[in-house]
Amino acid sequence: MSEKIAVVTGASRGIGRAIACRLASEGIRVIINYNGSVEQAEQVQRQIREAGGQAEIYQCNVADFASCETFVSDVLKTWGRIDILVNNAGITRDGLLMRMAEEDFDQVLDTNLKGAFHMMRFVSRQMLKQRYGRIINMASVVGIAGNAGQANYAASKAGVIGLTKAAAKELASRGITVNAVAPGFIETDMTAALSSQARDAAAAQIPMGHFGTAEQVAETVAFLASDAASYMTGQVLQVDGGMVM
Ligand code: NAI
Repeated sequence: MSEKIAVVTGASRGIGRAIACRLASEGIRVIINYNGSVEQAEQVQRQIREAGGQAEIYQCNVADFASCETFVSDVLKTWGRIDILVNNAGITRDGLLMRMAEEDFDQVLDTNLKGAFHMMRFVSRQMLKQRYGRIINMASVVGIAGNAGQANYAASKAGVIGLTKAAAKELASRGITVNAVAPGFIETDMTAALSSQARDAAAAQIPMGHFGTAEQVAETVAFLASDAASYMTGQVLQVDGGMVM
């Protein structure tokens, strides 16, 4: 294989950005997917290119089935293969269950769970032809342990874990591994929205006593994408400072 191609969804900032940079540092050509901010995606591309890596930018709303089909087919037309798919794009719309708007439930499920399904639906066909692929889905410890105020998010991330395991069984015999990473609290825009009170309460639940970094999550994704993880599939690796055991 001359060159590996990795698609990272939601790669314009946060954990996705760190994953894109980390994979590019290994000589992998990274497809930076973004939904809203092309400027942020261009910053990531610039950072990767300045470090000697290769990165391309593609817009796609992963919550939209037809857009994902077009996105994957455009990538394949130009680059010919997809070796690694990282389903990282995700959103939160927190609120108490009894007050949660149907729209807030649907949006979170559509992005976090259906988004991963849409991308796997179209990318796995190519990976089957290649008889090679690495799929890594971003779950969350909230999908394992639950969290008050995040019924929609917890359901979406528990769904991602089920999706990961089902796909792992379906695709294992064809050289494709499917694993999930479940971060705890990580310093990104997503957690920057927490009040200092909520932040202190969160840190108190973490044996290591502090939030993790996007780079620490990216290291685990890079491991699952590498040959070092070639006999692992259907697993959920937690990167959470010991928060959920
Ligand atoms: P973030 O909010 O900083 O970044 C999320 C990225 O996803 C953004 O680039 C956003 O534009 C993109 N995105 C959102 N909706 C999209 C759509 N429909 N189509 C394409 N891209 C879309 O969040 P962060 O913290 O970097 O999170 C990344 C992933 O890690 C998410 O799946 C999140 O649920 C998960 N995670 C984050 C944790 C944390 O503490 N920050 C903890 C556990 C999981």
